[in-house]
Amino acid sequence: MLRVVVCVSGGGTNLQAIIDGIAQGAVYNTEIVRVVSNNPGAYAMERAKKAGIEAVCVSPKDYENRELFEEALLACVEEAAPDLIVLAGFMVKVPEKMVKQYENRIVNIHPALIPAFSGTGYYGLKVHEAALARGVKITGATVHFVNQDMDAGPIIMQKAVKVYDDDTPEVLQKRVMEEAEWVLLPWCINLIAAGQVKVENGRVTIAE
Ligand code: GAR
Repeated sequence: MLRVVVCVSGGGTNLQAIIDGIAQGAVYNTEIVRVVSNNPGAYAMERAKKAGIEAVCVSPKDYENRELFEEALLACVEEAAPDLIVLAGFMVKVPEKMVKQYENRIVNIHPALIPAFSGTGYYGLKVHEAALARGVKITGATVHFVNQDMDAGPIIMQKAVKVYDDDTPEVLQKRVMEEAEWVLLPWCINLIAAGQVKVENGRVTIAE
């Protein structure tokens, strides 16, 4: 059984897609052992509780400085003894120590086709605003392993989504979630649980 800790900050629709994937049998051999949020108001916490999953908040506001917050975050994750950490809309830069400790065991979902619209400052709706401002005709989502640089780790899977002339950032965000994110993230977790995802020289291969 793959023990997964899911880190969240907001609405938690990606968390819900994983919960549903496990419940419906699309994601095998996987258990969400804890949901960790940096934001006490995150609706994702309610989703976790409704699904009977332990939800823990580690807010930076409760710590004197960044270092203490990062220590508490790492301790909270470690306590759940995960095999895999999934960042599902987690708006916190992962502490360096955590990245080192869980090398190739942290995955993130990003709402664009990396390397487009990625890196510092590109998160949530801002990604879609930037895509529309640039006038791209195709965008999408990426699931990747997390390394020390923002949105720069080995890419596991990507899915393209069409952009239409009359899209608003909100409309585009919804389409990218529905057509790409909620499909890709459970799919990748299932592949990882099945031991089919390998990282070599910074590149991912998926075994048949
Ligand atoms: C998702 O679109 C996710 O890809 C994005 O935040 C949203 C969270 O939604 N993540 C990033 O932008 C990370 N750089 P959710 O809370 O409903 O899953």
